[in-house]
Amino acid sequence: MRFRSRQVISLKALEENYKKLRSICVNNKVIFMVKANAYGHGVVQVVRHSVEKLGITEFGCASLGEALQLREELYDLEFEIYVFSDVQVELRECSEIYLNRRIIPVISNREDLDFILANRDFENFPLFIKFNTGMNRLGLDMESVDDVIKSIKLTGRKSIYHLMTHLSSSSMPVSKNKRNLLQFENFEKIKNTFKSSGIEYEYSSISNSGAIEQGAGLEETHVRPGLIMYGPSSLLPQYSHLSRWKGEIISKLETYVISFFDVTKGQPIGYGATPCPSNGKVAIIALGYGDGFTTRYIGTHLYHGEVRGQVVGRVNMDMAQVFFPEDELPDLKVGDTFTVWDHSVDKFSEFCREAKIIPYEVFIGLTQRVPKRYS
Ligand SMILES: Cc1ncc(COP(=O)(O)O)c(C=O)c1O
Repeated sequence: MRFRSRQVISLKALEENYKKLRSICVNNKVIFMVKANAYGHGVVQVVRHSVEKLGITEFGCASLGEALQLREELYDLEFEIYVFSDVQVELRECSEIYLNRRIIPVISNREDLDFILANRDFENFPLFIKFNTGMNRLGLDMESVDDVIKSIKLTGRKSIYHLMTHLSSSSMPVSKNKRNLLQFENFEKIKNTFKSSGIEYEYSSISNSGAIEQGAGLEETHVRPGLIMYGPSSLLPQYSHLSRWKGEIISKLETYVISFFDVTKGQPIGYGATPCPSNGKVAIIALGYGDGFTTRYIGTHLYHGEVRGQVVGRVNMDMAQVFFPEDELPDLKVGDTFTVWDHSVDKFSEFCREAKIIPYEVFIGLTQRVPKRYS
């Protein structure tokens, strides 16, 4: 575990992002996606704050294990949890957990649907159903909608709890991109088929961050934001003008300067003896790939105060080198705090663009060696 390299998470910033979300989704209920340890921000702390301070009552996980962790560690709070992909309903130990711990699996295939409909223990269990409208990953085949409805009716049910689909291309324009248009149209058809068959759906949702940012899918009862709640926009940079999102990154990644020294052009630095691009100074910071600061970050620009440096040489297990050219040197001291990213979305986006990595991966890539602190 590190002492001076840490991810500082501001629950206040999360609160601000939620307020901004509410200003876009004025009438929607929210399923806050907290899979993968709340996108690397610590699921227990994030969910506790979201329930107690923000009043969010619905959360989305990827696996039953993630959901169970929330139930066990937050047993004192009231909230709903949905498992979106790794549901395993047919395993006896899992179905018992769903039944006894108030965790709802999202049904995405015929096998899981048949299991639940045939199992008397699930007679009154809420049906949360996902259709594939064109993403072609998970979801009941939309051609089977009549069949699905018939099977539901055979059990005597008159309604389902939640009907949803997921977009493949919400980081692209929702009102122009053909795939998005098709998926919205297909979802409309599915909803209409349900309505005309006499099976009601209590709730529905389609939009994740990219669609929400563009104000799309807000006619459904729910939205399912993940990334934007943690700060970044999920639109591709070339479409950023379409985004209404003005969030802030909820965490800062801080480390410190272990040492620094003068360098001359061509001087070899670290593993691989990479030549230095020009005269200047190199700061050694206490983050390496053992912390999730990967070799992909070589070449990215980082700031010390307002002075821009660049990651040079090879990132190694425990450290990385940041080069500052002699024409603009920062005031470096051993022990200085060095901030890799702060609450600025612009700088964070620049970092992701340069590293050719998506924000989701940057957050999730941090390892346990970097402690999380909450402010
Ligand atoms: C079904 C579903 N809805 C919503 C989300 C949230 O997506 P985003 O983080 O892009 O908002 C995810 C993310 O994995 C998802 O799988």
